[in-house]
Amino acid sequence: MKVVKVVGMGGSMKPGSTSIRTLEAALHAAAAAGAETELLDIRLLDLPIYTPDLEPTTGVRRLVEAVAAADGLLWCSPVYHGSISGAFKNALDWLELLSSREPKYLTDKVVGLISTAGGVQGLQAINTMEFVVRALRGWTVPLVLPLDRTWQAIDVDGTIRDEGLKNKLWQLGQEVVRAASRLSARA
Ligand SMILES: Cc1cc2nc3c(=O)[nH]c(=O)nc-3n(C[C@H](O)[C@H](O)[C@H](O)COP(=O)(O)O)c2cc1C
Repeated sequence: MKVVKVVGMGGSMKPGSTSIRTLEAALHAAAAAGAETELLDIRLLDLPIYTPDLEPTTGVRRLVEAVAAADGLLWCSPVYHGSISGAFKNALDWLELLSSREPKYLTDKVVGLISTAGGVQGLQAINTMEFVVRALRGWTVPLVLPLDRTWQAIDVDGTIRDEGLKNKLWQLGQEVVRAASRLSARA
């Protein structure tokens, strides 16, 4: 059976952010399910603001090629002002470079969605991400993780202390591999 590739994309501009920690945990579960994995930390990609005619930087090229090669994706954004962060949206805007690929954008790719909120608006960021997945012709898995009051579940050193959260992240990582395996087998 083909080994599927799962790319985790997210985090915030804050070093050691809660969103990168949760993304790493879900990606770890995808690797345990047999996927080849790659983590794209938005902060480390150092992406310029999307500009149509700009020569792609190293970070832009890495983002675009990793996503193009992925069968499955895990996205994780913090909630900023009731939506996804500007940095995460900017990374999504750069996926416009997949418009000239065949198949375009996220066709036949499966996406698992996570958001980390300080309050209780996690689902709003999930819904925004879901709109983007649909716009890019991808498929979301039904299990989504809007993580409210994330600071209660993750220590400042990045340790996830909430067992329920660990289990949910594990389930999502495994589910993305399962769904990506089925969809990529038919593509
Ligand atoms: C600019 C900014 C805006 C935020 N807006 C919201 C918000 O609207 N709702 C909410 O629940 N949390 C909000 N938060 C809290 C973050 O969602 C929360 O701290 C999140 O875990 C940060 O993720 P990070 O550790 O990956 O940076 C905001 C934080 C910042 C810095």
